[in-house]
Amino acid sequence: MQTTTLLLDPKNPDPEAIAHAAERLRQGDLVAFPTETVYGLGANALDAEAVAQIFAAKGRPARNPLIVHVADVAAAREVVGEWPDAAVRLAAAFWPGPLTLVLPRRASIPDIVTGGGQTVGIRVPAHPVALALLRAAGAPIAAPSANRSLQLSPTCAAHVAQSLGGRIPLILDGGATSGGLESTVLSLCGDTPQLLRPGLLSPARIEAVIGPIQRSANLPSQADVGPLPAPGMLSRHYAPHAPLELMNDTPAALARMHRLRLQGKRIGRLTFDPTYPTLPGLVILLMSRDPTLYAGRLYAALHELDAAGVDAIFVDAPPAEEAWLAVRDRLQRAAVTASP
Ligand code: TXA
Ligand code: MG
Repeated sequence: MQTTTLLLDPKNPDPEAIAHAAERLRQGDLVAFPTETVYGLGANALDAEAVAQIFAAKGRPARNPLIVHVADVAAAREVVGEWPDAAVRLAAAFWPGPLTLVLPRRASIPDIVTGGGQTVGIRVPAHPVALALLRAAGAPIAAPSANRSLQLSPTCAAHVAQSLGGRIPLILDGGATSGGLESTVLSLCGDTPQLLRPGLLSPARIEAVIGPIQRSANLPSQADVGPLPAPGMLSRHYAPHAPLELMNDTPAALARMHRLRLQGKRIGRLTFDPTYPTLPGLVILLMSRDPTLYAGRLYAALHELDAAGVDAIFVDAPPAEEAWLAVRDRLQRAAVTASP
């Protein structure tokens, strides 16, 4: 399959290009598009056959539900069976934005979107291209991150093309995404709202609007370091091609790194230390000590190291503070060694 990329002004996308992409979606084709978090791979959420192509293109397990993107609250309410007070307040505070709400679904949403479950995740993305596309399509758009399953999420159109080129017909290129990391996923189905995936919107900001929420058992609670063994609650995801190790500068971790380097391997190093010593075989990327700036750069940095062809990646463990929850979650999943 030939993949076409349309270059758009991210602030003021060309209406004709948007109309063309919306028509492709209505016809049942896939369209990759930018959001403020990462690029999404969209299909008409009401068309089960179109959505099936997402799973095929990504190699995604069928039980993993998709987020449904809508243009506004009115469109969100068409998709869900309930719209509780917490949803009213969260949508008013954070939409358009990086918050996905999980609510009971309506029957109009096909099983393939929800992974066969009775709930659906919805959000209004804060990106002019995504919003224009949603309005022009006039339908809810199911869209996971636009990458092959388990790989790094794309933060620019080139990442999408590297991962899915030849497997999808159309990519809307709206430049690099500003957020760089996925939305926060929050379930409003139980008595207490539950954080299902940490993301760009922090738990503290959610709690400021609706009070206490529950953090899931499988979120990182401390800065675990080292290559994690085969998955327990954490499963490998969001991973670069090269094996990744979260490390403190302990003698053992440094020895592991330098042993590989002396064997002639190329090492990628994400560090907070601007004075990190340069050595042959070491590709050093300096990371911000600000969690928001770090999140915005993380996937792009890992993509860069993959493109540089490094054999292993060593990452300074981020602080064990809640502001770093989403970054730690992604790094810990990236560090899970694939089962033999
Ligand atoms: O920022 C984002 O959320 C991006 C952009 C494109 O919107 N999308 C994204 O989609 O990250 P994806 O498919 O890569 O991740 C969706 C996450 C998965 O962890 C999925 O299990 C969870 O949301 N999810 C979706 N619907 C759900 C549901 N009904 N119940 C529980 N979890 C759900
Ligand atoms: Mg994803």
